[in-house]
Amino acid sequence: MERTLILLKPDAVQRGLSGQILSRFEQKGLKIAAMKLMQISPELAAKHYEAHKERKFYPGLVKFMTSSPVVALCLEGIDAIKICRTLMGATFGADAAPGTIRGDYGVSRSYNLVHGSDSPEAAAREIGLFFPEGVVKYDYAAINWIYDPVEELKK
Ligand code: RTP
Ligand code: MG
Repeated sequence: MERTLILLKPDAVQRGLSGQILSRFEQKGLKIAAMKLMQISPELAAKHYEAHKERKFYPGLVKFMTSSPVVALCLEGIDAIKICRTLMGATFGADAAPGTIRGDYGVSRSYNLVHGSDSPEAAAREIGLFFPEGVVKYDYAAINWIYDPVEELKK
Protein backbone atom coordinates (compact mmCIF):
# COMPACT_ATOMS: atom_id res chain seq x y z
CA MET A 1 0.00 0.00 0.00
CA GLU A 2 1.20 3.47 -0.86
CA ARG A 3 0.41 6.75 0.87
CA THR A 4 0.16 10.27 -0.55
CA LEU A 5 -0.32 13.76 0.84
CA ILE A 6 -3.28 15.60 -0.66
CA LEU A 7 -4.12 19.23 0.12
CA LEU A 8 -7.49 20.75 -0.72
CA LYS A 9 -6.15 24.23 -1.32
CA PRO A 10 -7.66 27.50 0.00
CA ASP A 11 -9.74 28.01 -3.17
CA ALA A 12 -11.34 24.55 -2.77
CA VAL A 13 -12.31 25.27 0.85
CA GLN A 14 -13.51 28.83 0.17
CA ARG A 15 -15.56 27.76 -2.87
CA GLY A 16 -17.29 25.02 -0.87
CA LEU A 17 -15.81 22.26 -3.04
CA SER A 18 -13.99 20.28 -0.32
CA GLY A 19 -16.67 17.62 -0.04
CA GLN A 20 -17.03 17.10 -3.78
CA ILE A 21 -13.29 16.85 -4.29
CA LEU A 22 -12.85 14.47 -1.35
CA SER A 23 -15.67 12.34 -2.81
CA ARG A 24 -13.73 11.87 -6.03
CA PHE A 25 -10.82 10.33 -4.13
CA GLU A 26 -13.10 8.23 -1.89
CA GLN A 27 -15.22 6.97 -4.78
CA LYS A 28 -12.12 5.95 -6.70
CA GLY A 29 -11.20 3.62 -3.84
CA LEU A 30 -8.66 5.42 -1.69
CA LYS A 31 -8.67 5.07 2.08
CA ILE A 32 -8.54 8.21 4.24
CA ALA A 33 -5.60 7.57 6.56
CA ALA A 34 -5.60 11.11 8.06
CA MET A 35 -7.56 14.33 7.54
CA LYS A 36 -7.65 17.80 9.11
CA LEU A 37 -8.61 21.43 8.42
CA MET A 38 -5.59 23.59 9.13
CA GLN A 39 -3.97 26.93 8.50
CA ILE A 40 -0.56 26.57 6.81
CA SER A 41 2.11 28.75 8.42
CA PRO A 42 4.70 30.54 6.23
CA GLU A 43 7.34 28.19 7.71
CA LEU A 44 5.40 25.05 6.76
CA ALA A 45 4.69 26.44 3.26
CA ALA A 46 8.41 27.13 2.81
CA LYS A 47 9.30 23.54 3.76
CA HIS A 48 6.54 22.03 1.65
CA TYR A 49 7.45 24.04 -1.47
CA GLU A 50 11.24 24.01 -0.86
CA ALA A 51 11.85 22.59 -4.36
CA HIS A 52 10.20 25.65 -5.94
CA LYS A 53 11.89 28.38 -3.91
CA GLU A 54 13.90 29.81 -6.81
CA ARG A 55 10.88 29.90 -9.13
CA LYS A 56 9.26 33.15 -10.15
CA PHE A 57 5.84 31.98 -8.96
CA TYR A 58 7.09 30.97 -5.48
CA PRO A 59 6.16 34.14 -3.50
CA GLY A 60 2.62 34.10 -4.93
CA LEU A 61 2.32 30.39 -4.25
CA VAL A 62 3.27 30.76 -0.57
CA LYS A 63 0.95 33.76 -0.22
CA PHE A 64 -1.95 31.79 -1.71
CA MET A 65 -1.34 28.63 0.33
CA THR A 66 -1.17 30.59 3.60
CA SER A 67 -4.12 32.92 2.83
CA SER A 68 -6.88 30.68 4.22
CA PRO A 69 -7.23 27.13 5.63
CA VAL A 70 -6.62 23.94 3.68
CA VAL A 71 -7.85 20.39 4.22
CA ALA A 72 -4.83 18.13 4.59
CA LEU A 73 -5.35 14.46 3.77
CA CYS A 74 -3.23 11.36 3.78
CA LEU A 75 -4.76 8.89 1.31
CA GLU A 76 -3.78 5.25 1.00
CA GLY A 77 -4.08 2.51 -1.62
CA ILE A 78 -2.13 0.57 -4.21
CA ASP A 79 -0.52 3.15 -6.57
CA ALA A 80 -2.14 5.99 -4.58
CA ILE A 81 0.33 8.65 -5.82
CA LYS A 82 -0.23 8.02 -9.52
CA ILE A 83 -3.98 7.52 -9.12
CA CYS A 84 -4.39 10.81 -7.25
CA ARG A 85 -2.28 12.76 -9.78
CA THR A 86 -4.42 11.32 -12.59
CA LEU A 87 -7.65 12.31 -10.80
CA MET A 88 -6.23 15.83 -10.23
CA GLY A 89 -5.36 16.50 -13.88
CA ALA A 90 -2.79 18.85 -15.40
CA THR A 91 -1.39 21.63 -13.18
CA PHE A 92 -3.28 24.51 -14.78
CA GLY A 93 -7.07 24.35 -14.92
CA ALA A 94 -7.20 25.59 -18.50
CA ASP A 95 -5.05 22.64 -19.65
CA ALA A 96 -6.61 19.97 -17.46
CA ALA A 97 -8.87 17.42 -19.14
CA PRO A 98 -12.60 17.36 -18.43
CA GLY A 99 -13.34 14.66 -15.87
CA THR A 100 -10.34 15.59 -13.76
CA ILE A 101 -10.69 17.73 -10.62
CA ARG A 102 -8.74 20.64 -12.05
CA GLY A 103 -10.40 20.20 -15.44
CA ASP A 104 -13.91 20.25 -14.01
CA TYR A 105 -13.62 22.93 -11.33
CA GLY A 106 -10.99 25.48 -12.33
CA VAL A 107 -9.41 27.63 -15.01
CA SER A 108 -6.52 29.21 -13.10
CA ARG A 109 -2.74 28.84 -13.27
CA SER A 110 -2.40 29.15 -9.51
CA TYR A 111 -5.82 28.57 -7.93
CA ASN A 112 -5.77 24.92 -8.90
CA LEU A 113 -7.73 23.41 -6.01
CA VAL A 114 -5.59 20.48 -5.01
CA HIS A 115 -2.03 19.34 -4.30
CA GLY A 116 -0.80 15.76 -4.57
CA SER A 117 2.64 14.31 -3.81
CA ASP A 118 4.59 13.47 -6.97
CA SER A 119 6.84 10.60 -5.77
CA PRO A 120 7.16 8.16 -2.86
CA GLU A 121 10.03 10.26 -1.44
CA ALA A 122 7.98 13.48 -1.65
CA ALA A 123 4.97 11.72 -0.11
CA ALA A 124 6.95 10.49 2.90
CA ARG A 125 8.45 13.93 3.43
CA GLU A 126 5.14 15.78 3.03
CA ILE A 127 3.13 13.37 5.22
CA GLY A 128 5.76 13.93 7.93
CA LEU A 129 5.40 17.71 7.57
CA PHE A 130 1.59 17.79 7.71
CA PHE A 131 0.95 14.85 10.07
CA PRO A 132 3.88 14.80 12.53
CA GLU A 133 1.46 13.10 14.95
CA GLY A 134 1.15 10.17 12.51
CA VAL A 135 -1.84 8.80 10.61
CA VAL A 136 -4.89 6.98 12.03
CA LYS A 137 -4.66 3.19 11.97
CA TYR A 138 -7.92 1.33 11.29
CA ASP A 139 -9.38 -1.41 9.08
CA TYR A 140 -11.04 0.01 5.98
CA ALA A 141 -13.98 -2.33 5.33
CA ALA A 142 -14.47 -1.29 1.69
CA ILE A 143 -10.96 -2.27 0.66
CA ASN A 144 -11.90 -5.94 0.23
CA TRP A 145 -14.54 -4.96 -2.36
CA ILE A 146 -12.35 -2.43 -4.16
CA TYR A 147 -9.82 -5.15 -4.97
CA ASP A 148 -8.28 -8.28 -3.55
CA PRO A 149 -5.21 -6.59 -2.02
CA VAL A 150 -3.17 -9.81 -1.94
CA GLU A 151 -3.85 -10.71 -5.60
CA GLU A 152 -3.51 -7.10 -6.78
CA LEU A 153 -0.09 -6.66 -5.22
CA LYS A 154 1.20 -9.67 -7.21
CA LYS A 155 0.37 -7.93 -10.52
P1 RTP B 1 1.04 20.54 -6.78
O1 RTP B 1 2.49 20.45 -6.38
O2 RTP B 1 0.31 21.69 -6.15
O3 RTP B 1 0.33 19.22 -6.62
O4 RTP B 1 0.94 20.86 -8.35
P2 RTP B 1 1.81 20.26 -9.53
O5 RTP B 1 2.72 19.18 -9.03
O6 RTP B 1 0.86 19.92 -10.62
O7 RTP B 1 2.64 21.53 -9.96
P3 RTP B 1 4.10 22.03 -9.49
O8 RTP B 1 4.94 22.18 -10.71
O9 RTP B 1 4.62 21.19 -8.36
O10 RTP B 1 3.78 23.49 -8.95
C1 RTP B 1 3.32 23.69 -7.64
C2 RTP B 1 2.21 24.71 -7.64
O11 RTP B 1 2.76 25.98 -7.98
C3 RTP B 1 1.82 26.72 -8.73
N1 RTP B 1 2.41 27.08 -10.02
N2 RTP B 1 2.25 28.23 -10.58
N3 RTP B 1 2.31 30.41 -12.40
C4 RTP B 1 3.01 29.33 -12.66
O12 RTP B 1 3.70 29.24 -13.66
C5 RTP B 1 2.94 28.21 -11.73
N4 RTP B 1 3.54 27.05 -11.86
C6 RTP B 1 3.19 26.33 -10.77
C7 RTP B 1 0.58 25.86 -8.89
O13 RTP B 1 -0.33 26.18 -7.83
C8 RTP B 1 1.11 24.47 -8.68
O14 RTP B 1 0.12 23.60 -8.22
MG1 MG C 1 4.04 19.45 -7.37
